[in-house]
Amino acid sequence: MNRQTGAWIILVVFFLFACEGEKKKDRFGHLDYRTKIRLRQYLGEGKRLYEIHCANCHQADGAGLARLYPPLKNSDYLLANRQEVICGMRHGQKGEIIVNGIMYNMEMPPIPSITDLEIAEIATYIYTEFADSVHIVTLNDVADIMKNCDTSAK
Ligand code: HEC
Repeated sequence: MNRQTGAWIILVVFFLFACEGEKKKDRFGHLDYRTKIRLRQYLGEGKRLYEIHCANCHQADGAGLARLYPPLKNSDYLLANRQEVICGMRHGQKGEIIVNGIMYNMEMPPIPSITDLEIAEIATYIYTEFADSVHIVTLNDVADIMKNCDTSAK
């Protein structure tokens, strides 16, 4: 490799990394300054709580575990069933569900002591990081949804 080719390769690699950086920054680009700060706080707490309460089964990267624990990362269920997802954190979940075309039928245990705020933070984290749906799930959103959880089958 001569010197010129080397210089070109370095330049191309530099631009590839620069573009990656831009993409990451853009994720929050549509938000105003205060929302961004609040979102970062929710994400920080949400990640911490996710690691305590959820990562054992769904894994830290949200990939799930074989046919036992469904993935959260890029899960079609996550986007289509907001209410069930929020309710499930406190009330647990059981029965057959299909996630990305694969059937799961195991029991997710309830966490009766989890607060609305903790649910909001975890929900913000999983929707932003695993579903690429960048937004704050607020305390009010959660409080409203929790009032209407279907706990009959649980
Ligand atoms: C003991 C293991 C376990 C823990 C801990 C756990 N889950 Fe689950 N989760 C499951 C199982 C099993 C299912 C599938 C339930 C079924 O078959 O109906 C599930 C289903 C889900 C689903 C719906 C399916 C999908 O992949 O999109 C979501 C969302 C979810 N869990 C989120 C969470 C969150 C958030 C936490 C932490 C607050 C959590 N889970 C903690 C085992 C667990």
